[in-house]
Amino acid sequence: MIDTRVSIAGIEFKNPVTTASGTFGSGREFGEFVDLNRLGAITVKGVADKPWQGNDSPRIAEVYGGMLNSVGLQNPGADYFIKEDIPFLRQFDTKIIVNICGHTIDEYVRVTEKLRSADIDLLELNISCPNVKEGGMAFGTDCKMIEKVVGAVKKAAAQPLIVKMSPNVTDITETSKAAEAAGADALSMINTLTGMKIDIYRRKPVLANKIGGMSGPAIKPVALRMVWQTAKAVNIPIIGMGGISDAEDAIEFIMAGATMVSVGTANFSNPTATTDTISGIEKFMEDQSIKNLAEIRGII
Ligand code: SIN
Repeated sequence: MIDTRVSIAGIEFKNPVTTASGTFGSGREFGEFVDLNRLGAITVKGVADKPWQGNDSPRIAEVYGGMLNSVGLQNPGADYFIKEDIPFLRQFDTKIIVNICGHTIDEYVRVTEKLRSADIDLLELNISCPNVKEGGMAFGTDCKMIEKVVGAVKKAAAQPLIVKMSPNVTDITETSKAAEAAGADALSMINTLTGMKIDIYRRKPVLANKIGGMSGPAIKPVALRMVWQTAKAVNIPIIGMGGISDAEDAIEFIMAGATMVSVGTANFSNPTATTDTISGIEKFMEDQSIKNLAEIRGII
């Protein structure tokens, strides 16, 4: 008999699979393909204090081994999210992780305060979006700023706090340790790597924002290496992500030290990538006589 349950900050998940923020909306679009009750958690697109318009189009480009995005955290704001999306998500037997964003520490704190009494399970603090001029990656690549923003949000938060880390740094273990020291209950990694694509016939960047964040299978080895290094450097759980498309990818991240995994870009080409990954993990555990994922977590 296998047991796929995992826990993070005292919250128990029925299995280790969630969705990478921004690739699954708030679940509505995927509900017709996927039984949302199967997911360990749904991690929703970034939510800010007030609605954000996002960046100009084009803001998506396909590239070899993945895609670039420069969405700019378009979202309808916390009030809409609380009124419309939480009741929708609560119909399903899954945990809700809310990715939160802001341009300033005050904005991060305000959205956190709005969510204090919301019926959600965890917060994921997005300090790693490469597509906004203020906030985002500007916070997540500087240890001092990480300490300030994580400390302020942790103080305001009613739910456990996951901090989403940027890979666009020299040493991710240093930024991760800064987040842990400031009160993070868990880390999620990695957000996208900054990238670019040029249309040589138009002689212009394909993205209106010129650069964007790269995700997809091509970044998986980078993400895996960062999860493995960080798992040895911190004492809090990690949600691994970056190019995870199937169970084999997910199990690699678990063996590297991740407690949970997020499926992201794969959702766009295979809408059942999340549930396929869950079924594949179950099969692997049965075939390999693994009763509990703790048996293989961090064995590398
Ligand atoms: C975006 O909305 O620009 C992507 C979000 C992120 O990379 O954190």
